[in-house]
Amino acid sequence: MTNLQCLLIFLLLLNFSGGTYSVFRSCKDIYSSNHSSPNGTYTVHNKENKPFKVYCEFHDKFGYTYISRHAGVEVNIDDLFTSKKHVKVRHVLQNGTQIETILENIRLYKNLSLGIFYNRHIGYALPINYANLAPYLYVGFLPISKASYTNIQGYRAANTDFIFQNCDSNPNSYFVFYFNPQQKANLGYGSGFIPSGFMTSWVTYGTAIPTGDYMPPEFYFDYEIHMGGCGGYVFRHQQDNQDGAALGLRFDEYDPCVCSPCQNGGSCRSTSDTQFFCDCVAGYAGDTCGKHI
Ligand SMILES: *[C@@H]1O[C@H](CO)[C@@H](O)[C@H](O)[C@H]1NC(C)=O
Ligand SMILES: *[C@@H]1O[C@H](CO)[C@@H](O)[C@H](O)[C@H]1NC(C)=O
Ligand SMILES: *[C@@H]1O[C@H](CO)[C@@H](O)[C@H](O)[C@H]1NC(C)=O
Ligand SMILES: *[C@@H]1O[C@H](CO)[C@@H](O)[C@H](O)[C@H]1NC(C)=O
Repeated sequence: MTNLQCLLIFLLLLNFSGGTYSVFRSCKDIYSSNHSSPNGTYTVHNKENKPFKVYCEFHDKFGYTYISRHAGVEVNIDDLFTSKKHVKVRHVLQNGTQIETILENIRLYKNLSLGIFYNRHIGYALPINYANLAPYLYVGFLPISKASYTNIQGYRAANTDFIFQNCDSNPNSYFVFYFNPQQKANLGYGSGFIPSGFMTSWVTYGTAIPTGDYMPPEFYFDYEIHMGGCGGYVFRHQQDNQDGAALGLRFDEYDPCVCSPCQNGGSCRSTSDTQFFCDCVAGYAGDTCGKHI
């Protein structure tokens, strides 16, 4: 990216966010407004200014957003992430232990973004309980255009590929998280629990979360995983808030320093995704060290 392109993107961002926040739309907004914000439950607003709860997990210049199962409003999911390279899934085991795993496409498709949707699955296979337990959050690995072959498919968890050969070109390749507001039973495929090693590897390869970082139960959903054509099918109903799964959407804070705005050898320090400070070398001053003194 040239400096000019960089500057244009920066100005565009500045224009959209105005640099201040009257209402938070996402964990990214919350982080940008204060880098010391603690992990925890926050209220954000959708495009119609209706509030809903999210759990924000903050790291240095990035983080993850988990949506509450009790949201009860239309979720503008595109506001909640900036990357489709991976998602982080948390799982609460039957004994109450919480684990987490990074999920992405297998190496063979490493340049292919995930399909992340709220109550839609554009270009990806239809989930079995889409009407019964709606709304839902959808994470597609291979779109139908890539999955409807008898080829090698799967998912990558904790930096390990878990693969199967699609036996009949059935293009299922997804994890779905159901809000299931009426707590209904699932349809199709019996109990839906066929715990093959392949289907549960994302749990077995998960990392234990320190108990102090456990998320409240409202962030754990019923979930359905479907792979293939002979990969497998799993449905789990979160019971007494156990055995559920939570979808963590990745956001990165834009760093205005990538544009190298400081002149004459000044060093750049970002304080939010729209604001930066230049530490000028001796003999220079001004916002971008452009002034010779
Ligand atoms: C930022 O958040 C921290 C932690 O909640 C708080 O102590 C601090 O006062 C906040 N800073 C501002 C400028 O609001
Ligand atoms: C938020 O939680 C993660 C672990 O889940 C931790 O690595 C991170 O440091 C926490 N962030 C803050 C701001 O406490
Ligand atoms: C919960 O179950 C998991 C997997 O079965 C196990 O690794 C973990 O040690 C258990 N935790 C507790 C507190 O019993
Ligand atoms: C993936 O992207 C990288 C970087 O853009 C590129 O060099 C590589 O050739 C791509 N690989 C495939 C399999 O398309």
